[in-house]
Amino acid sequence: MVLFHLKTFGCQMNVYDSSRIVDLLSENGMDLTEDETNADIIILNTCYIREKASAKIFSELGRLKKLYKDKNPVFAVIGCVAKAEGENIFKRAPFVSIVLSSQKYHLLPELLNKALIEKKIIKEEELQEKKKNKTKLSHLINTELSGLEKFDCLPKQKNSEKVAFVQVQEGCNKFCTYCVVPNTRGREISRDEQSILDEVENLQKVGAVEINLLGQNVDCYNGLDKDGNKSSLAKLIKKIAKFENVKRIRYTTSYPSEFSDEMIELHAIEPKLMPLVYLPIQAGSNEVLHKMNRRYTREQYLELIEKLKNANPNIQISSDFIVGFPNETEEDFQQTLDIVKRVKFIQCYAFKYSPRPNTVAQKMDGQIDLKIKSDRLKRLQVELRKSQDAFNKSCVGRVMSVLFTDVSKTDNQYIIGKNEYLQPVIVKADAKLVGTIQNVEIESASYANLKGKII
Ligand code: 5AD
Ligand code: SF4
Repeated sequence: MVLFHLKTFGCQMNVYDSSRIVDLLSENGMDLTEDETNADIIILNTCYIREKASAKIFSELGRLKKLYKDKNPVFAVIGCVAKAEGENIFKRAPFVSIVLSSQKYHLLPELLNKALIEKKIIKEEELQEKKKNKTKLSHLINTELSGLEKFDCLPKQKNSEKVAFVQVQEGCNKFCTYCVVPNTRGREISRDEQSILDEVENLQKVGAVEINLLGQNVDCYNGLDKDGNKSSLAKLIKKIAKFENVKRIRYTTSYPSEFSDEMIELHAIEPKLMPLVYLPIQAGSNEVLHKMNRRYTREQYLELIEKLKNANPNIQISSDFIVGFPNETEEDFQQTLDIVKRVKFIQCYAFKYSPRPNTVAQKMDGQIDLKIKSDRLKRLQVELRKSQDAFNKSCVGRVMSVLFTDVSKTDNQYIIGKNEYLQPVIVKADAKLVGTIQNVEIESASYANLKGKII
């Protein structure tokens, strides 16, 4: 039995890719092991978005190599670092056998089998399919593929978590000046609608209750429908909402100026569509937004939120922020704080700007001192925490709908789930309610979670 250990870094898209890789390798007779000390194959699915994330990969590789000092497993680096660093990974970590971008992970079984044979972990005769593989391992990363071929190679999921993720779109054409994604994930491309609907139909048959549609710019989804016409995110969601077992639908990540009126309307009429919109603004100053090549102004952003709240007053907003972008002044930063006060975001991620290789912003004059970045991040986080706290407190006394997914690890009399706004909710209830959606009256709120009782 060949055992593989898979470690995932980074965003939801990587988490999704990893889950599909588990399906794919299992289908090919390999078994996932959680034990990092006892695998024949170690796969790192990597993130390149900020320097910290990508530096972690090389230290992790070094640590794992040491752990395996007497053994010689196959090391594979996949995902965004693989795409961005390419051959450099073989130079810095020569024990790595496979480097593969996210667009091509469907090639993993074949490449892994080849490496397992080379390392004499398995014999050639042991391979069920003895296809002769003539592809050179390290050169695959340069082959041009659209990024969607992998979906034709993936097996149907045999079971699903209650909350399932489905990738609808790959890549990004926006070229924000700080961002590596257009390089690591390639140009934007949408899956055909039918392929997504087939995946969702299967997922809801094998356990999914909540479907989360993933795309770097999910609002730009424009895959072809059965008749060869361009679909849209709203059209796709309307079709997904028809599946009986699908009770909740989310989508992520939105780009403010691509948010369509069709989607705003859908938020007014489709009860399965959760009222939380993840809408990264990045910065509150128009000057900074312009330098970031974000294609909207703060005024347009605020107008969009007003439209959304007019369509559905229950809508809340979450967001991403970057502080310390080149040339960001204290006044610019004040504009970011001002946006937080106005919008009252309910959950956010905030980052210090991290200069990334081969991006426009990396070459800009006016890079900001780390100390200033850290100071701004702290001040922003205080403001974000205030608005999250205020929202959490406003939930006390409300009845919210919660999809329960787990029994509490600390006390098995309690179960945990997420409400409409992805806030963790804890109630004292029978474990058999895990997997169901219940109405919960919220009785108390802290920064981290809400507590209540099922009614
Ligand atoms: N530095 C800091 N944060 C970044 N992000 C993307 N690129 C960078 C960078 N170079 C953040 C953005 C994005 C989130 C996924 O990561 O806020 O929305
Ligand atoms: Fe990166 Fe901008 Fe594309 Fe988001 S929209 S993935 S931040 S380039």
